[in-house]
Amino acid sequence: MMQRSLVLLKPDCVERRLMGQIISRFEAKGLDIVAMKMLRVTPELARQHYAEHVSKPFYPSLEKFITSAPIVALAVQGLDVVRLIRDMLGATNGLNATPGTIRGDYSSSRQMNLVHASDSQESAHRELALYFSDGDFCDHELLITPALRAEDEG
Ligand code: CMP
Repeated sequence: MMQRSLVLLKPDCVERRLMGQIISRFEAKGLDIVAMKMLRVTPELARQHYAEHVSKPFYPSLEKFITSAPIVALAVQGLDVVRLIRDMLGATNGLNATPGTIRGDYSSSRQMNLVHASDSQESAHRELALYFSDGDFCDHELLITPALRAEDEG
């Protein structure tokens, strides 16, 4: 099923100049970036985004980190993309992430794990609306699509 997911390149990714390498992996996989912006997450946006974690002991540290420097928000579109991107990221803790995944290749931390991606379609809808308005999405049929998959694949 065609889906969209919210991806955040977190402060550690921006600071370490890994934005291009991470975005390249999504492009190489054949996924479409349909919106992208750099911004500074405010404490209020952090609380909205991480609503399910606000009461957890690690939240103050997470908020300090995610608001510490700019991030890049991307809307990524593709078939089954919510699961696919989570698979590409690997385990939350970079120490446990399998080599070959993004976190497995670039992160050795639970908090500084470089990239966030929506964990379900419901989360994707909610999170995309926090970072983007309808007019931000550049949704068009790319000429390369027929080279990426057969018509009956979706
Ligand atoms: P993310 O996928 O953005 O979702 C929630 C984030 O909280 C997670 O990545 C980590 O950066 C962070 N996180 C999750 N669990 C912990 C933890 N136990 N301690 C510190 N940070 C955590």
